[in-house]
Amino acid sequence: MRIIIVLLFLINTVYGYEPVQPIPQKIEYDREKAELGKLLFHDPILSKDNRTSCSFCHDLYNKCGTDHRPVSIGFHNRRGKVNASTVFNVIFNFKLFWNGSVEDLKKQVYGPIQSPEEMNMTIEEVEERLNKHPLYIRKFKEVYGANRITFDMVADAIAEFEKALITPNSKFDKYLRGEIELSQEEIEGYKLFKRLGCISCHNGINLGGNSFQKVGVIKEYPWKPDNPDRYQITKKEFDKNVYRVPVLRNIDCTYPYFHDGSVKTLEEAVQIMAYYNLGFKLPEDELNKIIAFLKTLRGELPEILRGE
Ligand code: HEC
Ligand code: HEC
Repeated sequence: MRIIIVLLFLINTVYGYEPVQPIPQKIEYDREKAELGKLLFHDPILSKDNRTSCSFCHDLYNKCGTDHRPVSIGFHNRRGKVNASTVFNVIFNFKLFWNGSVEDLKKQVYGPIQSPEEMNMTIEEVEERLNKHPLYIRKFKEVYGANRITFDMVADAIAEFEKALITPNSKFDKYLRGEIELSQEEIEGYKLFKRLGCISCHNGINLGGNSFQKVGVIKEYPWKPDNPDRYQITKKEFDKNVYRVPVLRNIDCTYPYFHDGSVKTLEEAVQIMAYYNLGFKLPEDELNKIIAFLKTLRGELPEILRGE
């Protein structure tokens, strides 16, 4: 372990290696498909009672792609079991969902629309509704050249829209690109984040979203049978409390925290992490520095959402 740290330190100083990369300022996507996806994402037509759109649980304009509820509320106020993850910067995640059970954005769309707790529709009902809707008939004809709208096209358009949901130019990214300095507190927070080992799980473009890791590596974290963890999929003992590491981009805005939304503040989330995954409680000044650093991860509203 010590050798690895020394090596990382050397690579860092010699090559200026950073374990976090900035979000690219632009991303390639098909604008026409994405604009259609944007309409669909905000349209409750995709739910049984015509009340629940994707944006109901993923508010893009005011809540950084989450719903700020501990667990989501869907069809007929049915409570889900898990906290809604943000859809911002989702394209950079290696797999989707807390337990990584979904492979890609297009496949994901099939989930909530058919889930009885969420939008409670069937694929046929969605197709039937959209094929009666003059605006969508016209749009799908224009964008997909389609005479008949299929669910696959709906999923494709929504996935294309989600690709565009990147939040570049955060203070931290500008710092990584050498454009600005961080404040003393923020830079010390980033150094602590690396030195204490947060970085071993929260790294890459999204400071998370790229590996499965455990909560409770050092101190045992309580486990519940209905946790949305890797255990649900593998049934292997060592996968209890193992999750896809959550994304820390825009983290000050994606509260409440943890898979069950049980943690209200960022301060509390960081202390729980320090205690269970590093084995100690952070002194107040170190906690404040880490929080100051985490707040620099707030990016710009995605370009596709601006100008309205
Ligand atoms: C009733 C609330 C609700 C609705 C409606 C809903 N979602 Fe979600 N969404 C969630 C929750 C909760 C999760 C976390 C699920 C999990 O990880 O087990 C989630 C996760 C996701 C993710 C994965 C993010 C990640 O990084 O893991 C994507 C993408 C997503 N939703 C897109 C959509 C789209 C597209 C729609 C509309 C077709 C939609 N959602 C409708 C609540 C909702
Ligand atoms: C061993 C891997 C690991 C380490 C080390 C680690 N984390 Fe985490 N972190 C996770 C996992 C896994 C979760 C998801 C926990 C859950 O939902 O039950 C998480 C959750 C979080 C959350 C809440 C995210 C959300 O959206 O709910 C924050 C904030 C966070 N970590 C910050 C930190 C900080 C700061 C440190 C260092 C003090 C740290 N983490 C160290 C793996 C790690």
